[in-house]
Formats: sequence, C-alpha cells, structure tokens
Amino acid sequence: MTVQIERHGDILVAIADNPPVNTLNAAVRLGLKAAIEQTAADDTIRALVIACAGKTFFAGADITEFGKPPVEPLLPQLTDLIEASDKPVIAAIHGTALGGGCEVAIASHYRIAVADAKLGTPEVKLGLLPGAGGTQRLPRLAGIATALELVAKGDPIGAVRAKAAGIIDRLADGNRLLDEAIAFAGEVADIRPLPRTSERPLSPDPDAVAAFERANARRFRGYEAPAATIACVVKASETAYPEGVQFEREQFMKLIFGVQSAAQRHLFFAERKAGRIDGIADSVALRPIAKIGVVGAGTMGGGIAMNFLSAGMPVTIVETRQDALDRGTATIRGNYDATAAKGRMTGDQVAAAMALLTPTLDIVALADCDLVIEAVYEDMAVKQDIFRRLDAVCKPGAILATNTSYLDLDVIAAATARPQDVVGLHFFSPANVMKLLEVVRGAKTADDVLATAMALAKKIRKVAVVAGVCDGFIGNRMLMPRQIEAMKLLLEGATPDQVDRVHVDFGMPMGPFQMADLAGVDIGWHRDPTRIENIRDALAAEERWGQKKGAGFYDYDANRTPSPSPRVAEIIADFRERTGTPQHDVTDQEIVERTLYPMVNEGARILAEGKAQRASDIDVVWAYGYGWPPYRGGPMFWANIEGAAKIVAGLEKHGFAVAPLLREKAETGGRFN
Ligand code: 3HC
Repeated sequence: MTVQIERHGDILVAIADNPPVNTLNAAVRLGLKAAIEQTAADDTIRALVIACAGKTFFAGADITEFGKPPVEPLLPQLTDLIEASDKPVIAAIHGTALGGGCEVAIASHYRIAVADAKLGTPEVKLGLLPGAGGTQRLPRLAGIATALELVAKGDPIGAVRAKAAGIIDRLADGNRLLDEAIAFAGEVADIRPLPRTSERPLSPDPDAVAAFERANARRFRGYEAPAATIACVVKASETAYPEGVQFEREQFMKLIFGVQSAAQRHLFFAERKAGRIDGIADSVALRPIAKIGVVGAGTMGGGIAMNFLSAGMPVTIVETRQDALDRGTATIRGNYDATAAKGRMTGDQVAAAMALLTPTLDIVALADCDLVIEAVYEDMAVKQDIFRRLDAVCKPGAILATNTSYLDLDVIAAATARPQDVVGLHFFSPANVMKLLEVVRGAKTADDVLATAMALAKKIRKVAVVAGVCDGFIGNRMLMPRQIEAMKLLLEGATPDQVDRVHVDFGMPMGPFQMADLAGVDIGWHRDPTRIENIRDALAAEERWGQKKGAGFYDYDANRTPSPSPRVAEIIADFRERTGTPQHDVTDQEIVERTLYPMVNEGARILAEGKAQRASDIDVVWAYGYGWPPYRGGPMFWANIEGAAKIVAGLEKHGFAVAPLLREKAETGGRFN
C-alpha cells in the first residue's frame, strides 16, 4: 500500500511511502482521500495525522503525470478535502515539504515539523505556480511579503523560520516526530472551530507587492511564471478563497501548457539525466577520494580549491613561486571573507575551510592525494610537463585531472604512464560559483575514474556533464561559431550594441561583446601590437582589453557601466573599408539566425560525433555554464521549438554548411532529446 493506515488510540495516522521523494501521485492521493473518509466515518477517531516514510515529506506533485489524463482526486481537490475535514488534520513534516507537499501541509489544520525540515513552493522553477491552493493559503498564513518570497522566487525556508513566519505551529524532536505529532493531535482534537487557513482574513498590501516586484525585476526578466504567481497572491488579498483559487487554477493551466514550463521541466529532468554515464553500470566501484591536490593557485586553481574546502575536504595547492602562492591563498581567504560579510558563512566556517588548505611550493607534497587537478595556463608543453611530474610523484590509483578548456586530453594523458587515470575536469569561471562541470572522458579514461569524477561533482554541488575530447568540448565548441559570426556581423553593418541587445532580449545574461569585455579582449591575443589582422587585434593593440581596462568593445565609466564607444565605431569603420565588406541593414532576426542557429548546428555535430551523450546534456551545459535562459530550455530544446526545418532554412540562407543530423531532423520532423 502506498499509504499505510495505523491507529494510535483515537488518532488515525496515514503514512505515505512512495520512494524516492514521496511525490503525490494518483495512488498517494487516493490513499490520503481514503484516510480522510475513514476519519470522518469512524466515530471513535478524533483526528488524523498525515506523515511520510523515507527521507522526506511530500516533494510535490508527480511531474511525470503532467500532460497525462488526470486521475481524481486532483491535488486541489485533495487539499480542499483535507481542509474541509470536520476533524483536525495534522501534517507531520520531515525532509522537504515542497510544492504540492507544502500545499497539503498548509491545507491541514495544524503543522508540526522537525527543526531541519524545509518548506517551499519551487513550482516557479518549473515555470509553474502552486496550483493546489498554495497561492491563496500561504499569504493568509504568512502575510503577503513572505508568501511572495516563497511562491514567486521558489526557494525553500527552514522549519524554524517557517515557524516564526506562522507557517509551522510546532517544532518536533527529530527522532520523535510521529509520537509528538500524535500527542499534538490528541491536544487539539476537540478544539473548535477548526483553524481553516482559507477562512483567514487577508488585506491587500499594494506597497509590499510593488516593493517585491521592484526588488526582483532583474531576476524575473523574461519569465512568465513569477508575474502569474504574484497576480494570484494579489487576488488572494482581494477576493474570497473560492474566487481566488479559481483564478489560481486558470493561471496554472495557462502556464502548464506553455513553452516556458515545458522548457524548465525539461531542464529539471535533463540535469538529473546528465549524471548517468552511458555504458557504465551504476554499480561500478568508485575510487575513494579524501585528499585533493591543485596545481596552480591562479584564479581558476583557487576557485577550484574552494569547492573542495567548502565541502570539508583537505586541499594541497602547489605553485612555482612564493609570491604567486601567497596571492592565491590571500584571494581564497578574501573570497571567503566576502561571503562571510554577506552573512552566508560564519567566521568559524571560514576558519574551518582555511584550516583545510595547505599551500606549498613542493609538488612532492601531492604524493598522497587521491585526486590532483592541474589548473595552469593553456599551454600543451607546460601541461605535459606537469603531468609527467605528477606521474612520477602521485601514488598509484590517484586520479590526475586537467582543467583545460580546449586542449587535447589524450595528448596530455599520453605524457603519463597511466592514461587510464587521467580525466578532464573543466570548471567554469568563477569556479567556486558556477554550477557547471564538464567531465571530459579521454580515449583511455577508466570507467571507475569517470564515475568517481561524476560522483565527486555531486559532492561539491556541481551539475556535471560528460564530454568527449574535441576542441572546446561541448560549451566552448558551440561558443566559437557564435563569436566568429558576431564579428562578421560587425563588418557587415551591425554594432556591438545591437548584437548584444538581441542576445539579452533573447534572455542571455549578456551578448558576445559584453562577454568578450568581461572575459578580456586580450585572451588568446598574439601580443604583437603591430600585427593587426582583425577588429579584435586592433582593440587589443590599443589596450582596449575590456572591463578591467575601462575600455573594450564598449567604454566603461567608474561603475563599469558600458556605453557605445566612438573609437570602436571608428575601428569597425576602418575594417569595413579595408576589407571592402559590402554593407547592409542587419536585422535582429538575421542576428538570431547567424549567431544562435550555428550553435544548434554545432550541437548537432557534437551529438553525431558522440562528444555529448544526449541532446539534453548540451542543454544542461548551456543553462548552467553560459546563462542560456532556462525558460528556453537550452539550445537543443529551443531547436525543437523553433523547428529544425526553419533552422536549416536559416542556415542555408546565410551560406552555412548544415550538420547532417540537423538536416535529418528537419527532413523527418525528428526532435533532439
Ligand atoms: N515529480 C517526479 N519525479 C520527481 C519529483 C517530482 N516532483 N521530484 C523528484 N523526482 C525524481 C527525480 O527526477 C529523481 O528521479 P531519478 O532518480 O529517476 O533521476 C528522483 O526523484 C530523486 O530526485 P533527486 O535526484 O532530485 O533527489 P534529491 O534528494 O537530490 O532531491 C528534492 C530531492 C529536493 C525533493 C528534489 O528532487 C526536488 O527539488 N524535487 C522537485 C520538487 C518540486 O519542484 N516540487 C513541485 C512539483 S510541482 C507541484 O507540486 C505542482 C502543484 O503545486 C500542483
């Protein structure tokens, strides 16, 4: 039985057991309905406790049921049934009460939770809103400001905060939740009238709503769900519950059939699928990883080290010069101090992380590390030399990883006598912040090395994707055609501002030229100011290296606010003339076709070559590594929406060679998935 019914004296207890996360699927809903009916029908029962077995209270609706024929009771019917019960219903919460799980809790008459439980309504992250009365009950329970935080942003809160906010009535001892819930039920069994959340009064608070919208305008840019969610909360304050919940239903249905929610749900499952490695059994024995080594204490090396320090793992970091080592260590400390200053870490946590760090100039100190990550600059000879030395120094079975972003992993591995132990771990800058990790599988990388790397990524809270060896792996390889085309567009008549605006309007955090200015226009530059072969060379020769110099493709003021640069316009004009490039009015649509379609094209090649395991992995790379708007699901999901035939036509119009796999999709009506 998915919902087990137990009697404890005159209290009925319904315990749902639907692993792994107790979603409220049809069987669970039916089981809960039966429990409510039994409670009503049996005069010897005074109250009902709803609890869950396993690691968590209900994690929400079962997302895989969306789009299938509905099975009654629907979740909104169930929450209304719970609240309508004439005998008290008590929710006993542990783990995470999310989405529909939170809605079941707030429809109950009382809530008791263990202190480390979390409550939240993350539906907005799936492009949805709480659709089982959550937008109507939460503000009645916690007030408009708190409700907006919860429903429109989707981040869960801890039980202690939830109690202070009026959402939880009582905290329980972690080991005695059920006993305490039953005792609580006994205490309140005869109290009438029953506290029904939907009957609580709520007054409009336009100031709180306006302040919330102002504070989050940037975060919500481009998304449909937050605005719909806010509208529901406002409605709750303006009408009685039945009208409000009707409005919530309409908004929910609109969102669930929309493209944005489909895109965000796709990413939810894509992220989880990315962790699976084709051809390697889940049961493969992992190598134990306790001690980490990092070679290079620059920006990347330091950021990489922080991931492990924050996860409580000791890190030995190696540099060749004392000043570089000191600088690197100071940067790590500075980053932690900044986090502490924002209240996101305590002083003790900073001290604990720093105590795990061992800076050294001696590579031999890496001898007992289980994993060593090389993070020096991109030079094959240098990397090979380091790997030769690591091979000599490191213990047998240690995993040797490189953070290269485009060099050939197999050539690096060949510098060692143990290429089976070599893997790529491509972190994204800033490495302590960015969620994405490309795990690069070399020709000889052993299965257990790959599986260990993927498991470790989870431990340091990264989203990891397996990539094959090729120039730029998945992310940077797809970035290249976009950057090349963006430069061509400048020569043909577009401005940096226009190209960037099209990307920002699409939902990217920034466009190609803003990105170049942030990363450094001088990256990859040949460093010869007299050799000026393209616009980028010209900028680099004038030390227009981007934000760090106050000038790049844009001019920057003291606050790093960009404005179009007359000097860059001159440089572009000069190159247009020099190259004799014919000019035309570049439309926004042309920019989309020439910068985004080629990314899809490259993605199709990557897939066909087996450099990505699945199209959804490519979407994960772009969503987590490059800020592709989640509401567009990633480039390959977007390609399905845009239509492969349209993309092929656009590519052909502009003279691109179309990837065979993309053409095949266009001809057969197939989709990337
Ligand atoms: N529906 C269907 N499957 C779900 C699910 C859900 N709501 N939540 C998790 N799963 C699945 C995952 O896909 C995964 O499956 P897999 O093993 O086959 O890959 C498995 O459960 C375990 O999930 P995680 O790997 O994510 O486990 P964690 O322990 O890391 O995290 C969690 C647990 C915090 C509960 C996390 O799974 C999560 O955030 N889930 C989504 C919660 C959510 O968004 N709830 C709202 C749903 S929408 C809703 O309720 C609508 C209502 O308002 C009407």
